[in-house]
Amino acid sequence: MKICCIGAGYVGGPTMAMIAKQCPEIAVHVVDLNPQRIAAWNSDTLPIYEPGLDEVVREARGRNLTFSTNVDEAIAEADIIFIAVNTPTKHFGIGAGRAANLEFIEKCARQIAKVSEGHKIVVEKSTLPVRTAEAIKRILSSADNGATFDVLSNPEFLAEGTAIDDLLDPDRVLIGGESPKAVQTLAEVYAQWVPREKILSTNLWSSELSKLTANAFLAQRVSSINAISALCEATEADVDEVSKAIGTDSRIGPKFLKASVGFGGSCFQKDILNLVYLCEHFGLREVADYWEQVVIMNDYQKRRFAERICRTMFNTVSDKKIAILGFAFKKDTNDTRESAAIYVCRDLLRERARLVIYDPKVEKETIVSELLSALSDLSGTISDLDRELVESNVTVVDNAYDAAIHSHAIALLTEWDEFRTLDFERIYQTMQKPAFIYDGRNILDRQALRKIGFEIFAIGKSN
Ligand code: NAD
Ligand code: UGA
Repeated sequence: MKICCIGAGYVGGPTMAMIAKQCPEIAVHVVDLNPQRIAAWNSDTLPIYEPGLDEVVREARGRNLTFSTNVDEAIAEADIIFIAVNTPTKHFGIGAGRAANLEFIEKCARQIAKVSEGHKIVVEKSTLPVRTAEAIKRILSSADNGATFDVLSNPEFLAEGTAIDDLLDPDRVLIGGESPKAVQTLAEVYAQWVPREKILSTNLWSSELSKLTANAFLAQRVSSINAISALCEATEADVDEVSKAIGTDSRIGPKFLKASVGFGGSCFQKDILNLVYLCEHFGLREVADYWEQVVIMNDYQKRRFAERICRTMFNTVSDKKIAILGFAFKKDTNDTRESAAIYVCRDLLRERARLVIYDPKVEKETIVSELLSALSDLSGTISDLDRELVESNVTVVDNAYDAAIHSHAIALLTEWDEFRTLDFERIYQTMQKPAFIYDGRNILDRQALRKIGFEIFAIGKSN
């Protein structure tokens, strides 16, 4: 059997590497339009940082896992074609700011229709609005070379930072489709390492909608606890204690109740906005409003964090040096897409703070480009003033101690493990006084820091 995956990103790369590792008899070919990305997948420095990924790729690459830009060839040879391309929020035209941009999906479908012969199973791996398979089927059925297709939905539930564990031992694999034979063929692939009872099959539309719904529910939990964190700060309740107290109720459960500076990542916001757009499209105004509130609350949480920094530092951060610890949207990834850090840094820059940023895995170019795009207007234009602001007020360094030297404050924005064990005595000595710490992830020992002399502010804790 031959598998092709279009899209060598955070999903296509690790998912296919896992299939190749677990199914040595299947030839897996991952293709992408981006030659730099493909070159990186073929090198010792993979394009994404993910614990355990190097080992999985090393085991399969060259054996039954290949990466190339030969999209047509890979499609033509494959029995199963996964589509794992990006589906970002549309930023132009109808539905701008809400709807998913399905341009890349449609291009893949047209390409598959053009170069396929015989019978193929086409699998939606990307996260898509419910009923996208209908459009894909129509495009594929226009193939004039006699090719036939089954379309399946097989959304991916991995989380970045734990992708390899999630792929190795998923809570479930979801396959939606109309043809039992096609569903069975794909299920056989996963059954090489996933217990049968964890492989669920549904109709196409349930599968597509389950993916958006799962992300909406997960993000909703984070926004719910973050909403409560604001109330905790006003009432001397402690959000971690509240989380623990409610999480022990087996109906609520303890996971995804960690209050934070706000959720980030490429998908939560995008997928909820997509859900909101779909609800609006179907005339379900109240349902749309309900889910949109999750994103509104998240924006509030990010904004509130930056405002708290300004307010508690005597209402001005202008020309003050603030050390930013962490820029990725969560630990153990180099992904910065929609990271809360971007928006906190943007708001601090607008207050004319000087930022010294350190993240263990994020490159300087990525940080600068994220900040420039956050400061730009809707059309993507950045003013000379804002460009100058990033050039003069942002420094990126390669360790936390250098970031903290002479700073007025530290803002911890990503929960990297190495930040838990920093020598804060040493850091305190090098900082301006009073020395402030803003813990956006509630991972630091507040009592110990206070003993050293810091003024510490954390999420959902009153001071
Ligand atoms: P990504 O941007 O990292 O990767 C997508 C890749 O597709 C890019 O490298 C791009 O060059 C390539 N591509 C686009 N159009 C192409 C075409 N016509 N031919 C060949 N290559 C093409 O995106 P991602 O994070 O991997 O996400 C992909 C999809 O999976 C999205 O729908 C996302 O919502 C979903 N998803 C992502 C995650 C995650 O953790 N990132 C988890 C679950 C689901
Ligand atoms: C999320 C889902 O967990 C995956 O199941 C899904 O496949 C994926 O989105 C996707 O569709 O892209 P991911 O965004 O990689 O995965 O990471 P999460 O662990 O879900 O974290 C998302 C954000 O929420 C991070 O910024 C994280 O710091 C934040 N978060 C998470 C909290 O603030 N508190 C929590 O309790 C949990």
